[in-house]
Amino acid sequence: MLYNIHFSPTGGTRRVADLLAQGFGGEWVELDLCDRRYDFSRHSFGKEDMCLISVPAYGGRVPAAALERLGKMTGQNTPVILAAVFGNRAIDDTLLELKDTLTPAGFRCVGAVAAVAEHSIVRQVATARPNTDDRRILLDFGRQLRKKFGQTEVSEIDVPGNRPYRAYGGSPLKPTGSASCIHCGLCAQECPVGAIPEDEFTGVDKARCISCFRCIRVCPAHCRSVPARPMAATAARLKSGCSEPRENTLFL
Ligand SMILES: Cc1cc2nc3c(=O)[nH]c(=O)nc-3n(C[C@H](O)[C@H](O)[C@H](O)COP(=O)(O)O)c2cc1C
Ligand code: SF4
Ligand code: SF4
Repeated sequence: MLYNIHFSPTGGTRRVADLLAQGFGGEWVELDLCDRRYDFSRHSFGKEDMCLISVPAYGGRVPAAALERLGKMTGQNTPVILAAVFGNRAIDDTLLELKDTLTPAGFRCVGAVAAVAEHSIVRQVATARPNTDDRRILLDFGRQLRKKFGQTEVSEIDVPGNRPYRAYGGSPLKPTGSASCIHCGLCAQECPVGAIPEDEFTGVDKARCISCFRCIRVCPAHCRSVPARPMAATAARLKSGCSEPRENTLFL
């Protein structure tokens, strides 16, 4: 059985994961690492299973909440395909950090993908990716991974990255709500790390917030935002340094 396990606050990582899974073929079971209430320790995978684990690159690293939830699952020499999804800057050490976490827990990395998706903070970077070309490429990557999985000896692979991993101290962009809040509570329900107080939906616990921008996307009143000045600085930096479209890569 294929397990499609993803951490995707704004949906780009999930789009990539679903294309890889479709290309791989057959049915799959989905596990949502953004679900902070779910008990991931109930999952122990066997050697006949295949896990596809997809995360976005945050500062060239695996988001800490995803790592923590992945760390609760175990394998028994279970083959795993890793996908690092990035907003057209770089994945840096994301795949290596994922592999280093999963290997001692009983997983064996047999394939990996670095794929571009729209930047979740600055949507003018890699806008609407994965696009039509990406879809074709990612479906084909899935087919190639299936072909390898069908072989008798499925070899482990190396992934790019360096140790120590790139330092990442988080983003200063922490969304809050405005007076147009209708108190529906959706943002607090959907926040992957529980950073929005249940008794004050317009607020944010800055220490917990991972700046994933999910609350901004789900708010029906469009009332959540980050301060204009740091947002403009981030947008300018990314637009100047990351405008040239990057490619998707398969590691087999
Ligand atoms: C806090 C944060 C840090 C990010 N850091 C990087 C990065 O280091 N390199 C990069 O190319 N994209 C970076 N991105 C962009 C995301 O990796 C990319 O948009 C991804 O598709 C988001 O996944 P999602 O749509 O599943 O939420 C970052 C996004 C966020 C929110
Ligand atoms: S409060 Fe922070 S962590 Fe929670 S959804 Fe919003 S941006 Fe993401
Ligand atoms: S989703 Fe928007 S409208 Fe609903 S409680 Fe949160 S900030 Fe308010």
